[in-house]
Amino acid sequence: MNRNLFFIFLTFTPLSWAYLNLYLSLAEVQKLLGLEAELYYVRDGNINNYALNFVVPVPAKMNSLQFTWQSLADQPLVYSIDIDSSNSPTLLPPKLNITSTGSVPTHLQTFSVTLSCSGTAAGEVNVTITLNITISHTNVTTLTFRRKKICTKVEMHSNNHVFIDTLPTDSNSANIFYIAIASAVVLVVVLSTVVTMYYMKNKKTGGSTECNSGPTTTFLTAIPRDTVITSYGSFRRMPSYSLTTDERSKNLQKRISELTVQRCRICLSSVILEGTFARVYQGSYTNEEGIDEPVIIKTVTDHASQIQISLLLQEGMSMYSLNHKNILSVLRVSIEDHTAPFLLYPYHNYSNLKIFLQKCKLSAEGVSHTLTTQEVVDMALQVIQAMQYLHKKHLLHKDLAARNCVVDAKLKVQVADNALSRDLFPSDYHCLGDNENRPIKWLAIESLIQKTFSTSSDVWSFGVLLWELTTLAQQPYIEVDPFEMAAYLKDGYRLAQPINCPDELFAVMAYCWAMSAEERPTFTQLQICLQDFYTQLTRYV
Ligand SMILES: *[C@@H]1O[C@H](CO)[C@@H](O)[C@H](O)[C@H]1NC(C)=O
Ligand SMILES: *[C@@H]1O[C@H](CO)[C@@H](O)[C@H](O)[C@H]1NC(C)=O
Ligand SMILES: *[C@@H]1O[C@H](CO)[C@@H](O)[C@H](O)[C@H]1NC(C)=O
Ligand SMILES: *[C@@H]1O[C@H](CO)[C@@H](O)[C@H](O)[C@H]1NC(C)=O
Repeated sequence: MNRNLFFIFLTFTPLSWAYLNLYLSLAEVQKLLGLEAELYYVRDGNINNYALNFVVPVPAKMNSLQFTWQSLADQPLVYSIDIDSSNSPTLLPPKLNITSTGSVPTHLQTFSVTLSCSGTAAGEVNVTITLNITISHTNVTTLTFRRKKICTKVEMHSNNHVFIDTLPTDSNSANIFYIAIASAVVLVVVLSTVVTMYYMKNKKTGGSTECNSGPTTTFLTAIPRDTVITSYGSFRRMPSYSLTTDERSKNLQKRISELTVQRCRICLSSVILEGTFARVYQGSYTNEEGIDEPVIIKTVTDHASQIQISLLLQEGMSMYSLNHKNILSVLRVSIEDHTAPFLLYPYHNYSNLKIFLQKCKLSAEGVSHTLTTQEVVDMALQVIQAMQYLHKKHLLHKDLAARNCVVDAKLKVQVADNALSRDLFPSDYHCLGDNENRPIKWLAIESLIQKTFSTSSDVWSFGVLLWELTTLAQQPYIEVDPFEMAAYLKDGYRLAQPINCPDELFAVMAYCWAMSAEERPTFTQLQICLQDFYTQLTRYV
């Protein structure tokens, strides 16, 4: 890892008063942000302004915040502390378990701030904790910690059952927690990007860059010129995306920094897909050599929420740095303040596989292209190769479907990530009353019911993709209500054999939908099997 980068990321503002530590413990950060890290607000008297500037969301389930502090000074450090929650009726008055004035203990002490929701209304409450530390008679330093407490409404019913209005199940609290994690991921992504830009700007001496946009972000302007570089880490580890290995998460910050480009290098030409907030553009990107490369740009409109932006980044980055001919992975990222991120993908005249298949269908009676069994099998084999590679890299796709693949005129297929698909293909995703929009009809039975994923659940989705290829992207289980899917599958029902689909091919699909994950074929078995079938098909041509 580039050490300079790392150091700038961890810049603290030095204060003349030394010897105070104030931080959130490992367990606290884990609970709040889902990150494995200690978060120092003040280390040896140096204030971490990045951390102080971040409004930390507090999940509904958490009603106590803990801070750890210790004075290492010779004379007592007098503090006064105050909590403001803007008298919101949603929150009971916050409580502290230390006195509102006193001196910072010279031993390690944890104090807590109790934030209890009143239960009368659901909502978010801004909580500001102000801590004044008196260094001398004339000099008081103020530290401000901001929290956004999420509250849910609790209704008391006559039968004394507590009914939680907006968040009835565990999965929903998990959802809120997930949102918190997503925000943290964005924070880290944004921070590392800011830092990268700062670093790159400094490296390019004298602003020789053609992008004269001034300070790239507001964070940047907040970094004083004479900051002291310290080697202490405020975040000891980057967050890891699901099923990424440690090595990958360690490299995340570096990868993002490698991928980051200035917005002015990107030129948007036309919208090729749009949803309510999702936008996919065709455009070009001027690379480091000054050459324009054609790209596809995934982004969102200004109306997109923070969560939608988080998801775009999280899902768009899920396949970064993968290098396989049948995988389309993100080429560059552009994150600038006050605008939605741009994710750039290399473009070589491909189109979305689902849309391509539907177009084949529309023009099926005409002269235009229809797919032969041989072509279908060839495309399936390419997807299998991509999936074998992905699994070798310890990644699960979790949303393998025609909509998440691209295909070119020579029928070369690439598997892509699922960023924005929920919005671009809304009829392929359903909510089963838990605020989680999932590709219900592509999910393996265990993913649907227990939300567990494995290489075998990707195999199940591959079976559905194969079915899409042979039906020219019909909607699977069109007649089945999404809420009924689990029962339907449990009863043993599966997709029917498409017209004109050879028995051999249908047998492969059906094999992918075995109830028990162990009974499903592996991608290696699928490859052997379909390769055989392909050879048979070509033998007589
Ligand atoms: C901290 O100091 C500021 C002014 O320096 C004052 O307005 C504020 O009330 C103080 N807060 C506490 C908790 O003492
Ligand atoms: C405040 O409460 C936390 C846990 O709720 C406890 O660990 C800590 O010791 C308490 N601190 C004081 C000063 O009582
Ligand atoms: C909470 O603070 C944010 C800015 O940090 C502001 O946009 C929002 O309106 C505030 N909410 C309330 C209820 O005061
Ligand atoms: C606080 O005191 C330090 C010296 O102890 C001084 O450098 C600093 O400027 C003072 N800050 C204010 C706001 O008076």
